[in-house]
Formats: sequence, structure tokens, C-alpha cells
Amino acid sequence: MIYGPRLPRLGTFEAWRDAARALASNGVAPDDVDWGMEDADAGLFGAGAPLPPPRDIKVPKGFVTLAKQVCAHRDAGVHDLLYRVLLRCADTRGLLSNRADAEVQQLEAWAKNIRRDMHKMKAFVRFREVTPQGANRRQFISWFEPDHRIEELIASFFTRRFGDMDWVIVTPEVTTRFEGGDLSHEAKASSKLDLNDETEELWKTYYANIFNPARLKIKAMQSEMPKKYWKNLPEAELIPDLIAGAEARMREMQETAPTLPPIRAERILERIPERAALGELHACARCPIGAQATQAVGGVGPPNAPLMIVGEQPGDREDLEGVPFVGPAGQLFDQLATEARLDRTQAYVTNSVKHFKFTPRGKKRIHQSPHKTEVEACRVWLEQEIAQVQPAFILALGATAAQTLTGDGSALMTRRGRVERGREGLPVLITLHPSAVQRANDGGALREMLVKDLRLGAKMLNDVKAL
Ligand code: URA
Repeated sequence: MIYGPRLPRLGTFEAWRDAARALASNGVAPDDVDWGMEDADAGLFGAGAPLPPPRDIKVPKGFVTLAKQVCAHRDAGVHDLLYRVLLRCADTRGLLSNRADAEVQQLEAWAKNIRRDMHKMKAFVRFREVTPQGANRRQFISWFEPDHRIEELIASFFTRRFGDMDWVIVTPEVTTRFEGGDLSHEAKASSKLDLNDETEELWKTYYANIFNPARLKIKAMQSEMPKKYWKNLPEAELIPDLIAGAEARMREMQETAPTLPPIRAERILERIPERAALGELHACARCPIGAQATQAVGGVGPPNAPLMIVGEQPGDREDLEGVPFVGPAGQLFDQLATEARLDRTQAYVTNSVKHFKFTPRGKKRIHQSPHKTEVEACRVWLEQEIAQVQPAFILALGATAAQTLTGDGSALMTRRGRVERGREGLPVLITLHPSAVQRANDGGALREMLVKDLRLGAKMLNDVKAL
């Protein structure tokens, strides 16, 4: 008898799982099953015989995760091979960890294609704002053409990342909606949306500005942003011209580069303590600030610190030493933290932005606040640090850190001294930046506020440690 399960476009994995359970628990051999998608040609065997009633079967731990990814692959053989491997798992212990097994290798290769497709979708979805007047949530729409059937797998990334707005992502086969906090998918054929509007012009201007000719590596760029995605990326049409003009712009950058104080820099660089490893941070060119700075400054502190302290960006001294909060603002912070009995050694200390932004004035380098787009471009590094350290709570020093961590840019003075929920769901204690205290001419009022907030931080830290 031949069985011919037909799987729906949405809920493919769940349908495959149910059918595989019914077939496997009744001892049906792989050659007696003709798998297919509902919308595909019914095949030689159509829907085949009705499936037998399912019984319980044991499935190894990693299999479900692997099967969920593989089921999203477009190759017509995925469901059959998954079923074969599922049956073999019952006889061969540890089969999934056997990298030499050709069938396991094939499944892993398909899963890798899916993860890559998801990575590309995360990176290249561009939303266009379509909020009507008077709406209480902002609304966005996007068009994307994934290689595989990944819309359901990827949706939770977008709900987490853009949870505070309504959005629709349209692909050629599925429309995903997130409205008022509810997620839904609809299997529906769509043709390319024309999203050309002024938002795209803004994006193009931004991209042209962050494009760093000194870091141009055409091969790496094309592998990260393969040509097939270019047609839906507003900035892509700029790439050929930017590449063509890169050499001239690089020469111009070299001629206008500020002169750093080399002797001092060398002396200080010799004393750099160990820095946090943050993957590609030191080659980051996601915004233009890095081209000017001496180096990227990652966080320092215990790798599993219960407290993370986040400032704005490294200053002149931090830029040279490669360590956050070692200059005047950091020294003041240390003094006030001691006064508030906040143990700084328990904290992982870092910044929202990892490069020093400045304007040269003679031999001096004058701090410049980072632009919103630069803070946003840098956020991935902070997110990585939070994921690695997993602090129990975060102390946000100043408006930039508060906005980066909570997504809320409203006035700092009405929020300081309070604990808010951060984007990653962690408690964020908001306070002033020590440099605001340095600049203030207010008889010590801001200083007192900062010490008061740090005392609260010290109490929170003690409570966490007592748990
Ligand atoms: N200010 C900050 O926000 N961070 C530093 O590392 C130094 C000064």
C-alpha cells in the first residue's frame, strides 16, 4: 500500500510531524510513502491511502529542531529523507551526531541553507512606513523574496525586534501580519510590491554616508549581500557608483584625516588590559565613526557579571587605551560609585557605541554625540554583549544608553532613578551620565542625584547576589 501525505504551505512541519508519527509508529517503510506539498502536482499516487492512527514514538532530542528547519527547504526530497532518518534513529543510537553519515550530512546541509536564508532575511528586510493619520501604532510594510519557505520560522525574530509596531511582510507565497501584538500568516500568492518612496531615499542617503571606501572588500561584500538581494534593496543601486568612486574618496579621506597624537597613543597602547572578545567588532564598518577612531572599545569586566553598566561612547582616553570609562568621566564615576557603595568590580562596563566620535581641533579631539543612526547601527554589539554576559540588570548612564536599552527616547530627568524594562526584557536602572555632573554648575544637585541612583543600583546588586 502506498501512502501519499500532502503537506500544506503553512504548518508544513507540524503536518509532516503528524504524518511521520502515524506512519513510523505503524512500521510503514520509507519506500511506501510518497511525500509531497499540497499545491504541487498530486504525483503518481495522489493523496494515497488514508494514514493509519498514530501511536507514540520516541524521537531523539536534536531531531525536532533539525526537522523544523529542513521542512522549510524547497528541495522535493526533504520530507522523504527526514522520514528515512527518523526511522534509522530508532535503530542507531547517536545517529544525528554522526557527521560521516551521508543522510545526516544532507539534512545538515539543508538546515544550513535555511539558517543562511533566515540570516539574509533578517539583514535585508526593509520596511516602508505606511501609518495612516490618527493611528495609535506605527505601521510598516515590506517585500522580501526568500529562497525557502522560512516565513513562519523567522516571524518570531521580527515580532521581538519590531514588537512595538504593526507590520506586514509580503513574500511571493505568504503574507505575515503583526497587528496589535497578534501574529498571523496567510498563504497567498503576491507579486512584487513597489515600495519606492521617500523612506528609500533617506535610506540611500544614509547608506552612501556610512559606506567606508577604506574598508571596501568587494568579495566579502558580495558574499554578505549577494546580488540576488540587490533588486529589493534601495541602497543597492548605489553600490556600483560607490565602488567606482571608492579610490578617490579614500585618497580624500587620507588627506583630510585628523592627526592623532602618536607618541602618547603608543605609550598608552602598551598598557592595554585584556579586552572582551566580540567577534568582528574590531573590523566593524556599520557606520562611519570607526574610520576615524583609533580602535573599537568593547566592554570589560567579569564575563558573567550580575550587573552591566552602559555609557554612551568611548572618549579620547578610552579610544587610545581601548578600555571604557578610564578617562575623566570614568574616574568621576568610580569615585561616586565608591561613595554609593556600588562595587564596580562586580560590573561589566561598556558603551552603547563602540567607537569615539570627535571633531579635531588643533591637537585636541572634541567629543561629538553619536547620531541616532550610528547608535542604531552599533546596537548589535551591545546586544551581543548582553547575550554573552546575561546580567541580572543593567545600569544605563545617560540618555543614549537609556534609549538604546529601552527603545524609549523620552526625557531622562523624568525617568532617572527608576527601573524600566529593557528591550531584552531585563530591568534597566536609568540614571545620569557622569559627564553631565562634570559639566553642571548647579551646586552639586546632579551629583547628588547620581549618587542616589547608584545607591539604588548597589541595593539591587546586593539583592541579586543574595538570591
Ligand atoms: N563616556 C562614556 O559614556 N563612556 C566612556 O567609556 C567614557 C566616557
